[in-house]
Formats: sequence, structure tokens, C-alpha cells
Amino acid sequence: MAKFKVTPWEVEGEVDYNNLIHQFGTKQLTSELINKIEKKAGYSHHMLRRKIFFSHRELDILLKEHEQGKKFALYTGRGPSGHTHIGHLIPWFFTKYLQDAFDVPLYFQLTDDEKFLCKQNLSLKETNKMAYENALDVIALGFDPKKTHIIIDTEYSKTLYKIAIQIAKKVTASTAKSVFGFTNETNIGMYFWPALQAAPCFLPSILGKEKIRTLIPAAIDQDPYWRIVRDVAPKLGYPKTAAIHCIFLPALTGSSGKMSTSTGEQSTIFTTDDEGAVRKKVMKYAFSGGKDTLEEHRKHGGNPNIDISYQWLTFLEKDDNKLKNIYDDYKSGKLLSGELKQILVDKLNAFLKKHSENKEKARKNIDKFLLKD
Ligand code: TYM
Repeated sequence: MAKFKVTPWEVEGEVDYNNLIHQFGTKQLTSELINKIEKKAGYSHHMLRRKIFFSHRELDILLKEHEQGKKFALYTGRGPSGHTHIGHLIPWFFTKYLQDAFDVPLYFQLTDDEKFLCKQNLSLKETNKMAYENALDVIALGFDPKKTHIIIDTEYSKTLYKIAIQIAKKVTASTAKSVFGFTNETNIGMYFWPALQAAPCFLPSILGKEKIRTLIPAAIDQDPYWRIVRDVAPKLGYPKTAAIHCIFLPALTGSSGKMSTSTGEQSTIFTTDDEGAVRKKVMKYAFSGGKDTLEEHRKHGGNPNIDISYQWLTFLEKDDNKLKNIYDDYKSGKLLSGELKQILVDKLNAFLKKHSENKEKARKNIDKFLLKD
């Protein structure tokens, strides 16, 4: 069996997602649950159809309670260590779909404190500044300002701290070590940190003065936090958090693991990249499943299953027919690697053009979204 490792801070090796469900103790997303979500939304989401969202914790219970008229809130977040990349947007696109479908509030946490604590080279001033930049990416996706509350940790600490210390008192250092891999060399700020990421799980109940369950859409790397917070919830009298997990958008270079800033500039497309940078990175670095020569490619066709441009299109191209034609044409050799890459470049640049415009507009509206205390 191939070796891999998934923690909130690093993903190594070829991830076996079925194995991860087993390792983490989560559940496979069933077609019954997918149908329930799609029925509420009024349309099917390609990330559900294509099993990009593939696993959950107690989503079944949350949806049943919702049918009985109980409220819930969405919660997700971002660690502002740098500019937002396309991988981060994957769970956020889906979060927007869920907010529209269920018409529920969203709490979005920006962890300037976490990234200050875990990144040696970043000052608190820098992570705080980046939190504001990342917030623009969130707002640009069109979340409802009346229902979306963005938290920058160091600016909402009066409220968060009181929740976090309740949680921290129930979690031992040995649990933190085994769940997060902390060692004696880890700074003590990081030992406390998971309590901060757990805190927004209970925030809707505290602000709403009634028991409101949270549902967290995120990639599976964040699940270790939810394991801890779900253990603590009943001890503090709150409902257990539910979660829905997605797989990772792979690095452009196809190296194993997830796309992340730490895998290098050339493996990542940021929302701040201009048209030329996107074209250059995809053309030069996107791992290709094509054959070595034009002749061979025309004769034998390419392999879409290992081709990163095709893989990215499974995350970004909503139209099943278009995607199938690309798959068939690439496999038959009709579509060349350069042409496939061009399809991805066009898709990314069209999105990023609109996204940058939306970000500029968002600058004026940021105060409507921020929670401060
Ligand atoms: P961060 O900033 O590492 O990641 C932000 C969100 O993006 C997801 N993600 C990806 N999804 C698909 N493909 C990828 N290549 C990829 N890389 C990252 C992450 O799973 C996450 O959903 N500590 C957190 C911030 C946080 C948070 C939360 C995240 C605070 N509260 C609640 C999720 C839910 C962090 O550093 O995320």
C-alpha cells in the first residue's frame, strides 16, 4: 500500500481517500445525502456528482434535523499565510452553493494568529494584512453580506478567547500530540491553537442563544480539528459539529499531495496571477498525460487520468458534456496536450478576470462582513 500522510499542515504522498475515510473514521457521502442536498438546492452540483466532496461526519443527522425545522450554520476558514490559490476556492465555491441552497448563516474564520504561530518567517502584522486580502477573495465569490460573518481572529479575540479556553480545558497535551503530531519542540502557542479553530463551531449557539449545529465544508486535511471539537461538544453542552469533506486539487506539477503554497510558485495558481502568469505556469509546468511526440499522441492518444490540466477541469468545468468531449478527444489523440492546456488557461483566465473585478468592488464592502468585538 502506498504511504501517505494528511495533517492540517502537510499532505505527503499519493492520498488514498477511501483509506483516509477509514483512518479518520468519517463516512462516505451516500447518494441519498447527495439527493437531499441537490433537491434543496434545486440543481445538481458537479462537485457532488464527481465525488470531489466524498466524505462527511453526521451530515445525515444535520439534514434530518433540518427537515424537522432545526436551524444550522455553516463554518469554514482560511489560514492567511499568503495569497489565496485555486485550491482554497474549491471548498468555498461549494460553501456558497450550500448557503444559497439552505439560506443559512456562514461564519468564516481567518486565522492570522495560527499563521503567525506556525510560520517562522511571518510577523503578526503580515498575517493580519493577508487576512484582509484573503477576505476579499471570500467576498468576491458572492456570499450574502447579511448572512456572512468574517472573523479575523486577533480582531474578534474577546469573544473567541472565552470559548477557546472552555475547549482548551477539556483537551490534554497528549491528545494534541497524537491528533496533530505536536512534539516537545512545538511552541506552546500551537498547543493552544486548535481550541481557537474549534471555537467558531459553538459561536452560532452562543450568539443565537439556542443550540445551533454547525456544518463545515472543507478539504479533508482539516478533519483532525473536528474530531477534537466533536469530543468536547457534549461536555460543554453544545451539539456536535457536522462536516463535509472534499479531496485536494492537485499541484499543477502533479507532484503528489495537495496544491499548496509550500509546493512552490510553479505548482500553484494564485487569484492574484495575471493572464500571462497563468498561461506561462500551465503551459510550462502542468503535468501532461500526453505522448512524447505529436505522431505518437495522434496514434495512441493521451491519458486524461494522469493529466493535471484535465484533472483541474474536473474541478472547474461544470458542464458534463464538455468535460466528456475533452476526455474522449484527448484519449483518442484528437486533442493535443497544448490544446488541452489552452482550454484550462482560458477557463482560469476568464474566472480570474471576473474575480479580480469582484475583489476590487469587495474592498468597499468589507466592513459589512467583518465581526469585531
Ligand atoms: P488553509 O488556509 O490551509 O486552507 C483553506 C481551505 O482550503 C482547503 N484547501 C484545499 N482544498 C482543495 N484543494 C487544495 N489543494 C487545498 N488546499 C487547501 C482547506 O481544507 C481549507 O478548507 N487552519 C485553516 C483555517 C481554518 C479553517 C477553519 C479551514 C480556520 N477555521 C474551518 C476550514 C474550516 C487553514 O490554515 O486552512
